[in-house]
Amino acid sequence: MKILFAASEAAPYIKTGGLGDVAQALPQELVKNKEVEVCVFLPYYKKIKDNPDFKVEFVKSFTTNLSWRNTYVGVFKAVSRSKKLSYYFIDNEYYFYRDSLYGDYDDGERFAYFSMAVLETLHEIEYYPDIIHCNDWQTALIPTLKKAKFGGQPEYDRIRTVFTIHNIEYQGKTPKEFLTNVLGLNDSWKSLLTHGDCLNFMKSALETADKITTVSKTYSYEIRHAYFAHDLEDILNENAYKIEGIVNGINTTVYNPRTDPDIEQNFSEKNLTGKAADKAYIQEKLGLPVRADVPVIAMISRLVSHKGLELVDFVMSEIMNRDIQFIVLGRGDTKYEDMFKFNSYCNRDKLSANITFDPVLANQIYAGADMLLMPSKSEPCGLAQLIAMRYGTVPIVRETGGLWDTVQPLNIETLEGKGFTFKVYNAHDMLGAMDRCISFFYDKQKWSKHVKNLIKYNSSWKQPVTEYLRIYNELMG
Ligand code: GLC
Repeated sequence: MKILFAASEAAPYIKTGGLGDVAQALPQELVKNKEVEVCVFLPYYKKIKDNPDFKVEFVKSFTTNLSWRNTYVGVFKAVSRSKKLSYYFIDNEYYFYRDSLYGDYDDGERFAYFSMAVLETLHEIEYYPDIIHCNDWQTALIPTLKKAKFGGQPEYDRIRTVFTIHNIEYQGKTPKEFLTNVLGLNDSWKSLLTHGDCLNFMKSALETADKITTVSKTYSYEIRHAYFAHDLEDILNENAYKIEGIVNGINTTVYNPRTDPDIEQNFSEKNLTGKAADKAYIQEKLGLPVRADVPVIAMISRLVSHKGLELVDFVMSEIMNRDIQFIVLGRGDTKYEDMFKFNSYCNRDKLSANITFDPVLANQIYAGADMLLMPSKSEPCGLAQLIAMRYGTVPIVRETGGLWDTVQPLNIETLEGKGFTFKVYNAHDMLGAMDRCISFFYDKQKWSKHVKNLIKYNSSWKQPVTEYLRIYNELMG
């Protein structure tokens, strides 16, 4: 079985968020199955091209047509990877030799180009996969372009497409003129690609992909409702028959407190002294008083409102009134960055604001913290809670999407369940869940028993991979 995995980011080459983790781990796990071969397609960004650690070889170059444009496509391939898992990079410096991945005025054109180039590469290198697995809006045009530009060619017609929604909020919208100006498609494709006043890449994928998946079960139901769907609920309801939710795993080899080289002291469920040392280490490192008796609450997140930052903002002064320590790590909207900076200035002993993206520090915080706060308004899957649990850090989450699927409410009598949860998107409900977790923290015996249970909990990719393979097989008939 040959799978082409198309994404706008994949670690270790390039990563800005959870998609980068999934696009690394899922292909790696898939090829552990004998009959599976995966090639991952990525844009050849500046950050990849300029990194001497990544050795690539030139495969070939050709041109592709986007409307009137005749555009260069260079294809590079990573050297010395296994035959079963290969990485291809689409090179075009005009589109990808830039400092950041997203956020430019011509993002629509850049990723339309990428989608077209991926499809064009197949006949250029004479490699036809059974399945093309696309992810999020950046690769959402692939199923439609496959039909529109390559329909009627048997090698392309037999390829089945899967489209995974990692986050429905970002859909890839462009002005309507894009249809002819950039994609070079005639009006017969208009209704398929149009949604409201613009072209909408994600909407077209929902219509044309053979299968739609979301990264948790609950999210697959939530997005059929307006509250979560960012205006795509009708399209999702029409296509409900082909939607399925599969909760992400984490790479349990990379995220392993027994072996993680980035943390101060390794530990396991057998002995928590290492975790206590990691707590003291992170407190010291971040300039907080080194105290074992105070709960350390961490937040490792993009600082944007749908991650629940508005709730935290609303009750920040109340949080600071408690005997706790709060560590935040992440970047995002200036409003929230400033809120944390200001509050840490006023509460140096309680709040450590790390407004940066730092994977090593992240692991040290996962290991050293007692609790992880994730009060998302919506959460397609969420990886931080899975990583936190693996490091024995108790999650406090809102009951939504993947958080609801992975963090069952803890019964503090029986110790069944995983963490502290709240239902309503309300700041004081969140604070209530935090307070319940803080009280439980002082029940020392039960707390450490629960921490040990969490470390044992295994959210590996084993189960999700079985489900993806089932879907691929079903599509291939
Ligand atoms: C997006 C979602 C997040 C999910 C990740 C990987 O970043 O917001 O919830 O875990 O994709 O699928």
